[in-house]
Amino acid sequence: MKVLNFGSLNVDYVYQVDHIMLPGETQSSTQRNVFAGGKGLNQSVALAKAGLPTYHAGQVGNDADGEMLLQVLKRNGVDCSLVNRIDGPCGHTFIQVDKDAQNCILLFGGANRCIDAVYRKEVFSHFSAGDVIVLQNEINDLDQVIDEAYEKGMMIVLNPSPFDAYLDRCDWNKIDVFFINEVEGAQISGKETAEDILAWFREHHPKALVVLTLGGAGSCCMKDGQVYRQEVIPVTAVDTTAAGDTFTGFFMRAYLGGQTIPEALALAARASSVTVSRPGAAESIPAMAELDG
Ligand code: RIB
Repeated sequence: MKVLNFGSLNVDYVYQVDHIMLPGETQSSTQRNVFAGGKGLNQSVALAKAGLPTYHAGQVGNDADGEMLLQVLKRNGVDCSLVNRIDGPCGHTFIQVDKDAQNCILLFGGANRCIDAVYRKEVFSHFSAGDVIVLQNEINDLDQVIDEAYEKGMMIVLNPSPFDAYLDRCDWNKIDVFFINEVEGAQISGKETAEDILAWFREHHPKALVVLTLGGAGSCCMKDGQVYRQEVIPVTAVDTTAAGDTFTGFFMRAYLGGQTIPEALALAARASSVTVSRPGAAESIPAMAELDG
C-alpha cells in the first residue's frame, strides 16, 4: 500500500501581528519568517514522519523557492520523484499570526493551479487499487483528480480546505475519509454544533469516515454512525499553522495501521499539540519518536 498526496506546495510568509488585520487598517508586524508550507506539503511531511510510505505529486516553480520546498519534502522522507517543476512562481501565502497564536491565511495558487491532464495521467500510472490518495482544495481540477483516483480504485481522503464554490464540482460520494475543522464543517453543512455537523454527514455521506477537529474543544470521528471523542492536549500554543495537516497525517498512520479510532484520535491529538507549540508549518511537525510515552 502506497500513499499519494496530490496537493499544494507553498512558501509561507508568516507575519507576527498584535491582532488579525481589520478592513482598511495598517499595522506594523513585529517579525517575519519564511517557511515551507502548503496543506499538501504539510500533510505529506506528517504522513512520512508518522511512518507511511509517502509520495508527493504537485507542482513548484523552477526557481530557488521550488528547490527549497523540494528539499524540505526530501529531508522529511517524502518521495518527490513525481513532483513537477514548471516555469512560473510557486504557490505562496501571507499568514498573520496574532498574540494568541491564531492565524489567517491569504493564498496565491501559482504553480499549484497549473496542473494538466498529461501530468495527472503520468502520476496515476504509478498507483493502483488499494493505494491511498490524500487531497486538499489547493490545486486546480480537483474534481478530475478525484474521478481519476476513483477509477483506479484508490482510497480517497479529502480535506476540503479552503472551502469554496469549486468543491461543488467534486463528487463527494467518491470520498472515503473527510478531514474537516469546525469552520469548514459549518460552511459545508450550514450547521453550528459538532453534533449537527456530524448528523449532516450521516445523512448525506453515510459510508464516509468523518474526522472533525474542534480547536480547543478537541476532535471527534464518526465511523459507521458511531461517534468517538478526543479531548485536546493542553500546551502553550505559539502558531496553529499546520495543526490540522499534522492531525490528518498521524490519524491516517494509525488508521491504516489497523489501530482503533480512539487510538488514532489520541495519536493525532498528541502530534498536533506538538505542532502548535512550535512556529511554522512543515518544520513544526514532530517525528513519531517524539510522541512516545
Ligand atoms: O494548513 C496550513 C497551510 O495552509 C499553510 O502552510 C499554508 O501554506 C496554507 O496552504
